This record gives sequence, C-alpha cells and structure tokens, in this order.
Amino acid sequence: MVWKRTISAKILEKVKSAPVKVEDKVIFMANINGTLYAIDGACTHARCIIHILDEQNLTVRCPCHQALFDLKTGKMLEPPFVAPDAPKEKLGLKTYQIRDNNGWIEVDV
Ligand code: FES
Repeated sequence: MVWKRTISAKILEKVKSAPVKVEDKVIFMANINGTLYAIDGACTHARCIIHILDEQNLTVRCPCHQALFDLKTGKMLEPPFVAPDAPKEKLGLKTYQIRDNNGWIEVDV
C-alpha cells in the first residue's frame, strides 16, 4: 500500500467531491454523509475529467459525452452518447482505498 496525502478532510467534507491530482493521475474523491469514495477521475472514453456527482444515486457523470459511472465500483452504467454501443463492462474506472488520516484525505495509489 502506498498512501498519498491529498487534501484536507474538512475541505472535502465542505465541497463533497473534487477531482484531485495525485502524482501522475487525477482521482475523483467524494465524501457522502461521511463515507469516502475514490475512483479514477479521467473518463475511460476520451479522458475528460469526471465530476458531475449524483449524491442520491452514488454516481458520477462525465461532462464531455455523459458517460455515467458507479461511484462505489467504478462500473460504467451508461456509455457515452457518442458511442452508445461501447462495451461498458470494459470501460469501468479503477477504484481506490481512501481514508481520513488525522484530518487529511489519503488515497492508496
Ligand atoms: S470523455 Fe467521458 S464520455 Fe466521452
């Protein structure tokens, strides 16, 4: 495990979600009612940064072509509208372990 310190836990709690650069990647982090989530922030379709969070359904949508991902599993739920036949099962996002360590959000990269 390689835990990397990212942003303040208080900031993530306040903004609820954010794409954060961690080393050479962008990781989308969310704090939904105290539960932390982390998935790759770069969409598997054309690398746009995902950030449209649906707190109720625990999903995040890509702003470029509207692909929809499960925040908990990274699974692609809806393909990009420009590629409706894309193989969703192959286009999921990687998930990461995430924790609050003394007020700092850390991700296992
Ligand atoms: S880049 Fe995300 S849906 Fe196209």
